[in-house]
This record gives sequence, structure tokens and C-alpha cells, in this order.
Amino acid sequence: MPTFERREGVLWAERVALDAIVAEVGSPVFVYSASMLRDRARAVKAAFDPIGAEVRYAVKANANLSVLRLMLEEGCGMDVVSGGELHRARAAGCPGGLICFAGVSKSEAELRSALGVETGEEPVGLINIESPSELRLLDRVARGAGVRASALLRVNPGVDARTHRYTTTGITDSKFGIEPEETVAIFERASEYPGVALLGLHAHIGSPIREPARYAAAAGRLGEIAARVRSKGVDVGVLNLGGGFAHGYGDDPVEPLEAYAHAVRQAIAEELERGTRILIEPGRVIAAGAGVLIVRAVHVKHNTHRSFALCDAGMNALARPALYEAEHRVEPVRTREGALAPIDIAGPLCESADFLARERTLPSIESGDLLAVFEAGAYGMSMASNYNDHPKPAEVLVDGDRWAVIRDRQTFEDMTRHDREPEWRS
Ligand SMILES: Cc1ncc(COP(=O)(O)O)c(C=O)c1O
Repeated sequence: MPTFERREGVLWAERVALDAIVAEVGSPVFVYSASMLRDRARAVKAAFDPIGAEVRYAVKANANLSVLRLMLEEGCGMDVVSGGELHRARAAGCPGGLICFAGVSKSEAELRSALGVETGEEPVGLINIESPSELRLLDRVARGAGVRASALLRVNPGVDARTHRYTTTGITDSKFGIEPEETVAIFERASEYPGVALLGLHAHIGSPIREPARYAAAAGRLGEIAARVRSKGVDVGVLNLGGGFAHGYGDDPVEPLEAYAHAVRQAIAEELERGTRILIEPGRVIAAGAGVLIVRAVHVKHNTHRSFALCDAGMNALARPALYEAEHRVEPVRTREGALAPIDIAGPLCESADFLARERTLPSIESGDLLAVFEAGAYGMSMASNYNDHPKPAEVLVDGDRWAVIRDRQTFEDMTRHDREPEWRS
């Protein structure tokens, strides 16, 4: 059974009609399919099983606790990039040992929390270190707490993911990771950091990576650096290859996950032979297709040259079209008869960038119609904002013929709760 299917003119998620959900919880609302989330997690595991890769789900793609619990049930660990995501992973029940902590500018407080210093929580399994300065800080924090942190160095491998410039992270001029020469040099000086066990290497070159060869090239660079480090007499036992596997938005053709796994197998054959532990951090490829954003066209306006469906959410709920010029398929929840006409699907914000889709040819939309924005399960709610003080949408999980709210819609009070009268100090 397809996950999002039209029956008698109405879109359904699994065996629940989307308009029935909106009738109870209102719009805008993200609706996720539990079956699809499970299927996608299983597909990733099956594709990478031949190379023995451990899956760390990238929490940033969709951080709802119910989604994280589904990922845990499927045997995934978690890749987190902030103290907030770490808190979420733990709150979902993820054992510390299954957590990888990346993040470009981790603070002392975040590192202390990762090591469970004040709380006594199980330390995270691996910390991906992004800079020499972070390594020094982690060493100091760990020694101060009388523990030894397990860590990888995030390498900037100088491999272009050939994706949007805002989501390219592995080229030499990007802020991410440590350059290869410096990485080798740090391993040579590893004994200067007794509070840190440097176990291996990490890379993440961007997202979405449409060419498996690019992903594998970065993996190959890690293999080369590992060999150089070993030649200096220092062991490297872990390679974390990152995430970034492409999801096919709309008609976008993508390579199957097996093609990435196959390319990696060839690129790091020696590492696999010597039993190096391999990790991957997929997010988008699991969650993107499993979610839709439902918005209501509050007003429809026809200007001289363009028509607009002005909806109750736009870039505040789904930032990808505004930020990356991403294209998401949009359809009315209830089939509309009538002539096809071009229309922009825009949001309520005072921003020209605030659109969900531009120049789509759709059957005439009328005020009050519900629209489904597809493939919004990843980097939708997790990037949502309160700009113009619109409350963040509700989130709903569908599983077969049942559904549940998994995050309440924000209220106006939620948004003003932390503002306070000034208590002047001088
Ligand atoms: C370090 C790291 N790992 C994994 C991911 C997940 O990428 P994706 O959702 O494309 O798989 C990201 C995303 O930006 C990332 O920064």
C-alpha cells in the first residue's frame, strides 16, 4: 500500500484521511507515516549491512521524540549536533554509548553534558571533534572530571559533494572539520591529550549527495589518512562516514542506497578487511519521504501576471524552498476539478522569500482549500521558526489506521513565556 495515496478524491496517510486529521488538530500540521519511517530505516540498514556499518540516525533531520523512539526500535543509534539534540536523544531513551556527538562549536557545557559530568549519565559513545581548540577543551574537561573521552577527529577531506552551496561541508574553504595534514599531525601528538582517546576519523561532506562516487571519495580519503596515521605507529579503529544520502524529491532521480554502500566497499576495501568499525549518519533519506506538511490556502489572489495561494504557513514551517530553492511537490488534499493554472504557493510572512512552491500548475485553488506539501519529513519541523510570531505547527504520527498528536501546536503564550519585564541591574 502506498503511504500517501488518494482515495475517492482525498489524500490519505496510510489508512487515515488527511482532512480528518486537520478537522481535529487544525493547520498547519506535519503528518508522518510510522510505517515509512520504519521501512526507510530498514532499507538503510539492509543496504549497509554488507559492510557492517552501524547506523546513527541524524537527529537534526526530524527530532521529534516519537520519531527518535521509532529509530531506536529499528536499532539505530543517534547522531546529535547540540546539547539540545543530545537531551532529546537521551529523553527518547537512547543509551549514551549509541550517541555520536558532532557539532561545529561545542561549548564546555555541551562537552560536560556529553561526558555526563554533573549528571552521572552514561557518556556518549563518540565525540566528533571539529577543531584543535575543541580537542584542547575536551581534554581539559575530561581530565578535570577524571574520565577519558572517546573521540574521532572530523576531517575536512576536500571533496565537493556537488550539492547546494549552503549544504556543502567538505570543501577546503568550508568551516567544517580539520584539514588532512593537521589531522595526521594531531594523531602524532595524541599523547599530549591524555583526557581523550582518539579512536578514528569522521567526515560529512554535505547533503544531499547525489553521486555515490562523491560519498565514496570522502570515505577513501578517510582510509588514506587512517593509513598515514597508522604508519606513524598510532592506531585508527573507527571511520564515521557521515550522512547525506540523497532522497528523490519529486521526479529527482536518485541512486539506490546499495550503490553508495557498493562504492564505499570499493573505496575502503582494506579498512573493511582489517575490521575497522564503520558508522554512517543518515537523516534525510530516512525521514524526508515519510512526512507531509498540510497548510490551508487562507486567501487566493490573482494579480496581473501571477496568482498566489496565501497559506497559513510558509518558510516559517518549511524553510527549504526559501533557503535552498528546494522543490517540493504540492497537491490539494481534496481533488479539485477545473482548468489547470499556474500559481505560487506562498506563506503569511512579510518576506519575499516566503514561499513553499513557485509557478506550479494546479487545478484552481480556492480560499479554504487544504494543500499537502510532500517530502517534508526531514528538515521541516526541525528548521521551523517563529518569525513574525507564527506558532510552530503541530506534528502527527500515523501508524496504520490510528494516529496521534506527537507535538502540540505552539500557543501564543508559548511564544511570549520567556519574555520578561526588565529587572534593571547596574
Ligand atoms: C555531521 C552530519 N552528519 C549527518 C548529517 C545528516 O545528513 P542527511 O540528513 O543528509 O543524511 C548531517 C547533516 O547536515 C551532518 O551535518
